[in-house]
Amino acid sequence: MTNKLVVNGQAIELVQGDVTNQSVDAIVNAANSRLAGGAGVDGAIHDRGGPTIMAETRRRYPDGCPTGSAVISGAGELPASYVIHAVGPIWHGGESGEAAQLTSAHRRCLELAVENDCASIAFPAISTGVYEYPVNEAAVVALGTSYEFLHEFGKPSLIRFVLFSREALESFAAAFHSIDRS
Ligand code: APR
Repeated sequence: MTNKLVVNGQAIELVQGDVTNQSVDAIVNAANSRLAGGAGVDGAIHDRGGPTIMAETRRRYPDGCPTGSAVISGAGELPASYVIHAVGPIWHGGESGEAAQLTSAHRRCLELAVENDCASIAFPAISTGVYEYPVNEAAVVALGTSYEFLHEFGKPSLIRFVLFSREALESFAAAFHSIDRS
């Protein structure tokens, strides 16, 4: 199974695991537009990172964050330096602009990483849990956006996708294969 792709000298990598354990410069949260906390990735980040993360997002982003965008905060007690809170779309069947919103959420995360001098960033599979985006389709969007970003900007040095289940890892690996051959 392919789990690493080099694009413009930088790496896109797939691993199975927990995004909150990653020792990278920035990890990405699968947040909601009120930045109100929740279950899944969001719950794990606030549980393990402690209360300073929510205190900071409340202070800096009182209006939350629109769907398809992202905002950045410190990472509290997590091993990363930053948390980038991305708001992916809720899946409504695929005809409501979901792919464009998922693309822009990933792109904004990568822009924020570069703006904050992060050389490495770890993403979960945004929108594929509570928001019910089909993981096969989300994988194509997430990896395609990362590929294009590295092609265009040549940074960050490492974009890692941390997939919680074996099934999600296999979906991403299949999407990886199609990008690698294109
Ligand atoms: N590390 C990596 N992946 C994880 C983790 C974790 N610790 N926990 C869950 N996942 C996986 C899920 O299996 C799913 O594939 O991350 C993916 C995204 O799932 P969610 O966290 O449910 O995110 P999303 O679908 O974007 O829904 C966001 O859920 O928790 C609420 O506040 C959040 O309202 C927002 C919504």
